[in-house]
Amino acid sequence: MSDAIDVVAIVGSLRRESYTRRLVEALTGLAAPSLRIEIVPIGALPLYNPDEEPAAPAPWVQFRDRVRRAHAVLWATPEYNRSVPGCLKNALDVGSRPYGQGVWSGKPCAVISASPGAMGAFGANHHLRQCLVFLNMPTLQQPEVYLSGSDKLFDAAGAFVNPSTREFCAKFLTAFEAWIRRNRLSTG
Ligand code: FNR
Repeated sequence: MSDAIDVVAIVGSLRRESYTRRLVEALTGLAAPSLRIEIVPIGALPLYNPDEEPAAPAPWVQFRDRVRRAHAVLWATPEYNRSVPGCLKNALDVGSRPYGQGVWSGKPCAVISASPGAMGAFGANHHLRQCLVFLNMPTLQQPEVYLSGSDKLFDAAGAFVNPSTREFCAKFLTAFEAWIRRNRLSTG
């Protein structure tokens, strides 16, 4: 593959000062030129309701089209009540339908999670992985990314405070790119 890999990032936080989004922005800056990561906004997606499929809302259509074009998906989630925030689950549901025409199947992906708490949103990370099995998305297993203390990861300029976090994230990106190249859809 000569061209850069196109990765859409789904960030499960709508918060203006989201630590999770800051993490993905830092990864975007850290990634090699061969790996382009773009955050796809999910805050304006109407709640999924199958009754609306015959005249699907424009934000659903645009979201599906964008994901369909991508080679891979980066799921970045905080944790709400030991699971993923509703906005992320809604985006996942929107992309999964209409039945048989979902945008996820076969697309390689990775899950990263972050929390100010000590467990790095482990619960949300693994709840999400359960959905990805059903959606038939080849999901990177290692390295697992559960970042704790997400409120202390970055300085005011958005740079990693701790060089070891930066190194770990760089290692993750290398593994993710290799995973995508190995599992890329032939049509992707
Ligand atoms: C939380 N938070 C939280 N944290 C955690 O580690 N485990 C949890 O189960 C929860 N549950 C939870 C529920 C709700 C409704 C809120 C609003 C928050 C705290 C959460 O991790 C914190 O607000 C993060 O800052 C959210 O991520 P962003 O928005 O900074 O990306």
